[in-house]
Amino acid sequence: MHPLEQLRDDALREIENAQDEKGLEMLRVKYLGKNGSISVWGERMKTLPKEQRPLVGRLLNEARGAVGAALQKRVELFRAQKETEKLARLDVSLPGTPRETGSLHPLTQILDRSIAIFRRMGFALADGPDIEDEWHCFDALNTPPDHPARNEQDTFYLRDGRLLRTHTSTVQIRAMESAPPPIRVIAPGAAYRRDEIDATHSAQFHQIEGLCVDADVSVADLKGALEFFFRELLGPETAVRFRPHYFPFTEPSFEIDVRSKALKGGERWVEIAGSGMVHPAVFEEVNKARGDQAYDPEKWTGYAFGLGMDRLAMILFDIPDIRLFAQNDLRFLKQFA
Ligand code: PHE
Repeated sequence: MHPLEQLRDDALREIENAQDEKGLEMLRVKYLGKNGSISVWGERMKTLPKEQRPLVGRLLNEARGAVGAALQKRVELFRAQKETEKLARLDVSLPGTPRETGSLHPLTQILDRSIAIFRRMGFALADGPDIEDEWHCFDALNTPPDHPARNEQDTFYLRDGRLLRTHTSTVQIRAMESAPPPIRVIAPGAAYRRDEIDATHSAQFHQIEGLCVDADVSVADLKGALEFFFRELLGPETAVRFRPHYFPFTEPSFEIDVRSKALKGGERWVEIAGSGMVHPAVFEEVNKARGDQAYDPEKWTGYAFGLGMDRLAMILFDIPDIRLFAQNDLRFLKQFA
């Protein structure tokens, strides 16, 4: 028997007797490693007489192949055994550990849906602080000092004269201060009023403000934009009604009612927003603050609106009491998961 055949048989026997993967690795090094007893025959062959080389070459290849394959087969066997042992210890009949998943607050859900619709219409997101100065909340919005909204009974004032914004219309002013027309923004956020708290009034509520200023913007654009918005949100059958109203910062002004099958509690008109064409006096105040004539009321017109989001969520989801939004009761919140 040629020594290479002997080596091969020794290796195969040892592989058969190996106890684990570590043992197999040692055998691989011993026989097939760089200085392994089979491998060294590669170098040795070069020193042999020419006529012996083909035979040794063949035996060398054969030994390498056989030992390599045997190692591979046994490694796989050990690995499979390990896997089986692990699985045997796993009790698949044990009950799992439930993982509590949270969900979005109903107000967040309706805000997200609304924002997505406005973004498709080309509105960018704008934002401003909840703690505001009187100028952004009232003066810049053409609201005179004796207007009832400025009353201490109606608004939360801080000691330094600042206040919690009573509406998101403050962001109209901030958006126009920071960029010249054309402008098309929405500003979702909280607003605060010192109302008597009951099922429909809360000290904090949420609005989406909208502002569009461009050349030749008219009431038709305002109507078109809001009708599209409500039909996207509440379904194509939704009716939208504009009622004349008064706001100091828009002229003309409208309150907006919607009527839709999607509203819980039957079809009826529900007041949902304030809106109107931006008052020229607002543009003039913004120009004064900017120190330029970017919002020249002879050149630009605009519309603005403010949507009551708590109201909208209440009629969409049939929520009877606005206080539920802030009570963190899981029995309530889980219904919107
Ligand atoms: N800010 C008004 C409110 O809170 C709504 C409104 C916004 C009206 C924009 C007209 C234009 O009642």
